Amino acid sequence: METPGKEEISVEDEAVDKTIFKDCSNITFYRRQKQQLSKNNTYRALLDTVTTGEDSTKFQIINEVTKIPLLAEVYGVERNIFRLKINEKTPLKPRYEVPDVINKLNTVRLISCSGDTGSLILAGGERDLKCHIIANPFKIELISEEEVVISINSLSQLYFEHLQIPHKHRATTEKEERVSAGASQESQEDLGLWEEKFGNFVDIKANGPTSIGLDFSLHGFEHLYGIPQHAESHRLKNTKDGDAYRLYNLDIYGYQIYSKTGIYGSVPYLLAHKLGRTIGIFWLNASETLVEVNTEPAVEYTFTQMGPTAAKQKVRPRTDVCWMSESGIIDVFLLTGPTPSDVFKQYSYLTGTQAMPPLFSLGYHQCRWNYEDEQDVKAVDAGFDEHDIPYDVMWLDIEHTEGKRYFIWDKKRFPNPKRMQELLRNKKRKLVVISDPHIKVDPDYSVYAKAKEQGFFVKNPEGGDFEGICWPGLSSYLDFTNPKVREWYSGLFAFSAYQESTDILFIWNDMNEPSVFKGPELTMQKNAIHHGGWEHRELHNTYGFYQQMATAEGLTQRSEGKERPFVLSRSFFSGSQKYGAVWTGDNMAEWSYLKISLPMLLTLSITGISFCGADVGGFIGNPEAELLVRWYQAGAYQPFFRGHATMNTKRREPWLLGEEHTRFIREAIRERYTLLPYLYSLFYCAHVASEPVMRPLWVEFPDELEAFDVEDEYMLGNALLVHPVTEPRTTMIDVFLPGPNETWYDSKTFAHWKGGCTVKIPVALETIPVFQRGGSVVPVKTTAGKSTGWMANSPFGLRVALSTKGSAMGELYLDDGHSFQYLHQKQFLHRKFSFCSSVLTNRCADEKGHYPSKCVVEQILVLGFRKKPTSVITHSSDGKDQPVAFTYCARTCALSLERLSLDVDADWEVHVR
Ligand code: NOJ
Repeated sequence: METPGKEEISVEDEAVDKTIFKDCSNITFYRRQKQQLSKNNTYRALLDTVTTGEDSTKFQIINEVTKIPLLAEVYGVERNIFRLKINEKTPLKPRYEVPDVINKLNTVRLISCSGDTGSLILAGGERDLKCHIIANPFKIELISEEEVVISINSLSQLYFEHLQIPHKHRATTEKEERVSAGASQESQEDLGLWEEKFGNFVDIKANGPTSIGLDFSLHGFEHLYGIPQHAESHRLKNTKDGDAYRLYNLDIYGYQIYSKTGIYGSVPYLLAHKLGRTIGIFWLNASETLVEVNTEPAVEYTFTQMGPTAAKQKVRPRTDVCWMSESGIIDVFLLTGPTPSDVFKQYSYLTGTQAMPPLFSLGYHQCRWNYEDEQDVKAVDAGFDEHDIPYDVMWLDIEHTEGKRYFIWDKKRFPNPKRMQELLRNKKRKLVVISDPHIKVDPDYSVYAKAKEQGFFVKNPEGGDFEGICWPGLSSYLDFTNPKVREWYSGLFAFSAYQESTDILFIWNDMNEPSVFKGPELTMQKNAIHHGGWEHRELHNTYGFYQQMATAEGLTQRSEGKERPFVLSRSFFSGSQKYGAVWTGDNMAEWSYLKISLPMLLTLSITGISFCGADVGGFIGNPEAELLVRWYQAGAYQPFFRGHATMNTKRREPWLLGEEHTRFIREAIRERYTLLPYLYSLFYCAHVASEPVMRPLWVEFPDELEAFDVEDEYMLGNALLVHPVTEPRTTMIDVFLPGPNETWYDSKTFAHWKGGCTVKIPVALETIPVFQRGGSVVPVKTTAGKSTGWMANSPFGLRVALSTKGSAMGELYLDDGHSFQYLHQKQFLHRKFSFCSSVLTNRCADEKGHYPSKCVVEQILVLGFRKKPTSVITHSSDGKDQPVAFTYCARTCALSLERLSLDVDADWEVHVR
């Protein structure tokens, strides 16, 4: 069998076959924790063991029943972050600690400032933050301004399974252990201590049970977000009556929506927000992880007593979060905020910021499984030009390879890949090809032969190369956790190694959960062995992260470090933002999937991964024309914008749906292209200042309760509010415009509203409801070109939307769009536009940057200008004044200046009188 279809194990075009995947009741470490924690599970901190070192404060904690000691370490980390590590004091052998994810950190010395015999108080950092360690029962409270913000283990859910000596006679001992773990023999419950069955799969656990868990109570918080990836609402739901959120990277074709099951990627990090404070909890663990969330709402008690006084007591809301992982150690970072933007910075200090993408990758991407051959590529490429639709990147899926041998072209379909790339290069466009982590078992395939020879594959427990089925049939899987494998793999992208690749070719890493067709839950068995002898179970959720890391490194190296890489990965972990983009996998061509893509992308965005998108149109099935138009309109205002469709779907290039629909798609894509200066500036801001590109409303309006649950609209940067239409045949939508002191302008009609209300907006099929916030300046290009490459010197426009005070501010970031010169040579331009007292100024925002630009600002639109000006004069830095023509519309209060020629890189002023 050359290529097994995935339909063998999953049902094509249908909802997921549930029997393939586990729910919480099938997860034995979860069951063990539940069972054990229902009994007495007190831990006590031994404060007489406290030692304070340069970096951390250490002390022991013991379980009152088993008396086995654990070692706790508390670190103060720069930027008001606390780190708590709990491990066995003397484990039989080292337990897995996630490497390669956390940046080098500066610690802050914590000072033990007081505490009675039963407690210890540690203080440090810049602000009034204290860590109160209470001995019995063991509990930690994080205190800010005399208020407990987070308490740890206040629900006594600390759970730690100690490594044990493997038993020879497992069968008999299992029974004994079941009894000691609390399961009655009659119940015959399989607690999966040394082995665990699921369907036909048996997971043999060489290390026995190793799971860990800990609870956190978040005081005053009832709004929690984060822990992607789930096809769920943006705000985390209570898990009390259902499954916990699962973090376990899985390939689920046509995943179910509103489900807490794990899909392709995991970021074990959540944020909690309330009026006045935002915090974060980052649980650094790469094994299968479950998160329970339980909110106790605020209640008000009235005590009616005898006598004159009736007392009222308000109890603050509280959310309890319990993290449970199958393996590893407890290693948790508490990010203390206090603002959303502080938390974003704290998290990126730990895991890195979004990589600065090459400009082309913010254009539109055209993908399909598959573009059949060179002719097909040529025809699709030409189709865009014929229909006057911009696009930047053509994509080739697995069929471009010879029998799914990555790095080798199928010469029947693509006889001359260089010629094809030259065609695209001449159009100033790029090519992305797929490269998956599974390698076909074929001694004549050089990638396989070399990897085999060097021992670069993941091993099975018997010591041979692990083999599983994926697209090529029998395959082995590169062990990207090994730095040597990564180095070698990176080298495969060198122009000399990757035959007929050129510098316009970029990479897509797919199936890297990893997907193993006949494996348990379609992934790798947990007892496969990685570099260093670690079981796959320990590091499963980082497999895709490592592949994307190695690929990005390879693309950078092939240009000797000069050019920015572009790598899209399906699987991801905390820190993946440093290596490129991710998408939401195999969604369906249904309205409900368009709708869920918004909260899914918002969640990714606030957990560090700004460069994210969903397959436009839906991957599985055939979208009706209206849905496709709406999806393009939504995608045009999302960070990663790619149309994609699976095999045996109807072709759906933007011009195939009839004149009218093509027009609307063209308009949406063109709108995206005119918006690129703003979007690129936002990515720079994500890269240097950790601000997400796509933001839930609560991030921009943290003091507005009403914004906390909104997920059908979002902010792109701080200036644009986007409310994509996600229902069929919509003629009217309700748009919530936040901020009672804000003014909002419809970006097309220029109609304006005061914020703090919900307005009804009529929509036609061509309408993309986008609103500009008063007080902002959005830099745009005045026209869209065939691709970003054609727009490098095209003129800018400024869309100035005035606040109630008549002012506005905005920024523009500009560089060559592809190299690292912005970093190493400071070749960039960062300008700041401000409108104040009827004068618009263009000033330098960062003196360190220099980048000569031939571009001019050609148009300026000022919205909310109350009276018709008598004159408008431009004033350049060399002292020259020039009157300019303007038009003014009294009905919309829009002032428009056209045919200007103001250098974008020079200081100037525009005076409106
Ligand atoms: C699964 C990916 O999610 C999808 O986008 C891709 O087209 C197929 N694999 C084939 O490579």
